[in-house]
Amino acid sequence: MQEKLNNLEAKKAEARLGGGQVRIDKQHKKNKLTARERLEILLDPNSFEEIGMLVRHRSTDFGLDKQRFYGDGVVTGFGTINGRLVYVFSQDFTVFGGSLSETHAEKICKIMDLAIQNGAPVIGLNDSGGARIQEGVVSLGGYADIFYRNTLASGVIPQLSLVMGPCAGGAVYSPAITDFILMVENTSYMFVTGPNVVKTVTHEEVTSEELGGANTHASKSGVTHFACSNEVDCLNTLKQLLSFVPQNCEEKAPHLPYQIKEDETREQLMNIIPENPNQPYDMREVIEGVADEDSFLEVHKDYAENIVVGFVRIAGRSVGVVANQPAMLAGVLDINSSKKGARFVRFCDAFNIPLLVFVDVPGFLPGTDQEWNGIISNGAKLLYAFSEATVPKVTVITRKAYGGAYDVMNSKHIGADLNFAWPTAEIAVMGAKGASEIIFKREIAAADDPEAKLQEKVDEYTEKFANPYRAAERGFVDKVIHPAQTRIKLINGFNMLENKVQNLPRKKHGNIPL
Ligand code: HXC
Repeated sequence: MQEKLNNLEAKKAEARLGGGQVRIDKQHKKNKLTARERLEILLDPNSFEEIGMLVRHRSTDFGLDKQRFYGDGVVTGFGTINGRLVYVFSQDFTVFGGSLSETHAEKICKIMDLAIQNGAPVIGLNDSGGARIQEGVVSLGGYADIFYRNTLASGVIPQLSLVMGPCAGGAVYSPAITDFILMVENTSYMFVTGPNVVKTVTHEEVTSEELGGANTHASKSGVTHFACSNEVDCLNTLKQLLSFVPQNCEEKAPHLPYQIKEDETREQLMNIIPENPNQPYDMREVIEGVADEDSFLEVHKDYAENIVVGFVRIAGRSVGVVANQPAMLAGVLDINSSKKGARFVRFCDAFNIPLLVFVDVPGFLPGTDQEWNGIISNGAKLLYAFSEATVPKVTVITRKAYGGAYDVMNSKHIGADLNFAWPTAEIAVMGAKGASEIIFKREIAAADDPEAKLQEKVDEYTEKFANPYRAAERGFVDKVIHPAQTRIKLINGFNMLENKVQNLPRKKHGNIPL
């Protein structure tokens, strides 16, 4: 028996060494942790149960039969994060550059199947040279098997991707289908074709980092939701993100214990809106003002900054926030902000996370660039996403809610449950000046002093429409609230909506304008 046990231990020790100490040292020199070191940081101590540690590939071409590492370049299994079950796969760059073989793919598929059947998140740590070149089409098939499962799992269990090294070619499409991507600055990149191919085809000279590094995807393409300064930061951000998310689509979102205080007034909310309606302010101050202390986790921080999305806790409850950002482009809705908002709304709705929407929007961004690139179908995504969301939905209009953007931003008409407005709200078809120039055009032109006439009309329009009371008269706004009372109104509102049930008409699936 002892001999057999020694034999087993020897195999396990060999497996733990992956591609060997030399390659592990090389990995460390690049400022990268190994696949197993990453899992140690990610998972609760001693919680990891490995599956498939002794799997080896069965290829024989190009001398592969002489290099058969245990694990075949990916560490897979399950464990817990803060006591909650998760399934993980962590690619091991020290074995054939973490490249994906038939057996490597089988290991990933096995834990994805378990995750779907048992209703727990699947977390992928990607660090791979792509398809195992020596295996050819078998490896491509392995990728497709994973993509297929990513799609089946979408909306059923949360899928989270950390990109901690290369992720190129078709390999990018697995993370792309998952719910969130986190990348590490300077050591990870994602692209469909690398700098060499780019140079040959388009004659552009570009580095890997510029083409597909963390900051590029965080700010330019929006492919990644988080750009983290190092691997530990990346793993910790993932844990924070996970704390807002339920295990699967059948569960309620996490709700930490919270004792409501006698006074939940937030006086600082009184001082945020400037006197001048054209002056910007930072909507994050409003979000942080209503949220539990230090609970705000912003998602997609550097992309389409004219809309802010992220998670907060309100009296312990996990809530998804979507907010126009007047500090960037006056908070206007454009193509990128609509896509960013829509995807976030759909994630929250899929996983039963209530939505809180702050509105200060002057409308949609005009111009040929926006029209020719499809602001119509892209803006419609946000409208569609809010309309189909059946989670509790609460809106607070802080200032402008103009035109079509008023409708889109979780208005009563598209199914919001509670619509609040601050007394500073201006709910109208457009701003007072633009409106007056159109409807009083002739009167202004005929006046002795057109400028004075315009001002008179602007004042008249402002008095009539630049307020929340017309909407409140109609019931489009349920309540005009004191800004300092916003937090308690939200606490009470979300408590009231705790057991909301809304069923949509029966369908196979909708047809969101993609
Ligand atoms: C087999 C691979 C490999 C691969 C790397 N290795 N990529 N083995 N298949 N795809 C091996 C190397 O031979 C080397 O083995 C070890 O991994 C480390 O690689 P290095 O090149 O020494 O590392 P580094 O200098 O850091 O460069 C990393 C890299 C480079 C940029 C990823 O290895 C590279 O360009 N690899 C090829 C990438 C590629 O073209 N992949 C196919 C893409 S097409 P030793 O024994 O020396 O340690 C694709 C299609 C997917 O992926 C389609 C899905 C639908």
